[in-house]
Amino acid sequence: MKRAVTPGTFDPITYGHLDVITRAAQLVDEVVVAVAASPSKSPLFSLEERTELAREATKHLDNVRVEPFDGLLVDFAREQGASVIVKGLRAITDFEYEFQMAALNYQLANELETVFIMSPPQYMYLSSSIVRELARLQSPVDQFVPPTVASALERKFVD
Ligand code: PNS
Repeated sequence: MKRAVTPGTFDPITYGHLDVITRAAQLVDEVVVAVAASPSKSPLFSLEERTELAREATKHLDNVRVEPFDGLLVDFAREQGASVIVKGLRAITDFEYEFQMAALNYQLANELETVFIMSPPQYMYLSSSIVRELARLQSPVDQFVPPTVASALERKFVD
């Protein structure tokens, strides 16, 4: 069985993430969406909330499951029996960071292959931070995130 992890902070999950997860699920037998604790990013949503929102958003995908993790990605990927790390790549600005992460993860665990999926043009600019900012400013986010995520954002920023 070929298993991939798609890691991220998912604060919150967006249609851009879902696009990458959906396409990864077509390439391997199983995708584990790895929701990182990322304490240094002081996420808006708790790890439990981010995991639950990602589960809800991916429940229609049979070969996808969502798991939280707190620690090194390569350790989590090994625990899960994954052989591939799938990351989405948006604009050129993502490249340097992703290149560094892929090189580091290779150094730590060279049996894990990092594969990049290019974002389609409509999601090139989309990020969780942009969505959080829009929601904070009370602007609709329905075109960027699934309905459950939009409602969760509304609740966070209710006056
Ligand atoms: O969605 P993000 O925040 O860009 O995702 C970054 C993430 C979670 C993939 C990355 O920070 C990560 O792999 N975190 C787990 C800890 C780890 O393995 N860090 C790399 C060595 S310092």
